[in-house]
Amino acid sequence: MAELLDFTAQFTDLVPSRPLEHFGDSDLTFGGRIFPALKIHEDGGESGCGGKLWIAGELLCEYLLENSDDNGILSKQMNLLGRDKPFVNILELGSGTGLVGLCAGSLARANGGNAKVHITDIDQLVRLMEGNVELNGLASVVSAEKLWWGEPLKYEFGPDAISNKTDLVLAADCVYLETAFPLLEKTLLDLTKGETPPVVLMSYRKRRKADRIFFKAIRKNFKVVPITSFDRCDDFLKQRTHLFQLIRVQK
Ligand SMILES: C[S@@+](CC[C@H](N)C(=O)[O-])C[C@H]1O[C@@H](n2cnc3c(N)ncnc32)[C@H](O)[C@@H]1O
Repeated sequence: MAELLDFTAQFTDLVPSRPLEHFGDSDLTFGGRIFPALKIHEDGGESGCGGKLWIAGELLCEYLLENSDDNGILSKQMNLLGRDKPFVNILELGSGTGLVGLCAGSLARANGGNAKVHITDIDQLVRLMEGNVELNGLASVVSAEKLWWGEPLKYEFGPDAISNKTDLVLAADCVYLETAFPLLEKTLLDLTKGETPPVVLMSYRKRRKADRIFFKAIRKNFKVVPITSFDRCDDFLKQRTHLFQLIRVQK
């Protein structure tokens, strides 16, 4: 708990929160593209900075919605599904309220439930994420669990898993706290070991010069490829919010 308070206090110092402090439930349709509307309960940050919605999460939802269709999640951009791969395993890091993973889960439900989504965060956020899974009736597709960056990965998330290997990693607004940079880097490295690493999509809001330290470190092992081919990209860029694909460099 002391760790959480320390971490939350640092975050509050560093990051101005969204103008609208929000406690309670929102119904999000993303311009009518998601039905039924996603219901997200925010606790206003009570359980840590993840207890609120952040713009980088909104960006990742927009990208998923724009690039998915009846053929599956991100089917318009990348072939995550195929004849040998009828099912996609998705892992979200630092999910907070669970918004992005729930959006992926809702897309999966709409096209026949061909995905399993694991939304993860520190212990203190698990209850909020579970509540949001329940609010949306998505328990058959989305599960909420703890995953602390830097800790050994659960077997099923890692590269050695024989079945149900992770195909897609999502991370929204996870680069903001210098002390967590090496931990996040370690988890990303652990997840992408091996010959067929998952696709990694990271949305990022630029706040401080120190964030460069994270990107400099991960460039030793990943190509950081900006993605700009989506409708509201310019709007997000104006708000210093970016989307990257991280491609593990095979050495
Ligand atoms: C700014 S919030 C973003 C939440 C959510 N992805 C969104 O976009 O709304 C950052 C998230 O990273 C999580 N986080 C920070 N350090 C972490 C760590 N060491 N291990 C796991 N999660 C962590 C926080 O708890 C928080 O939920």
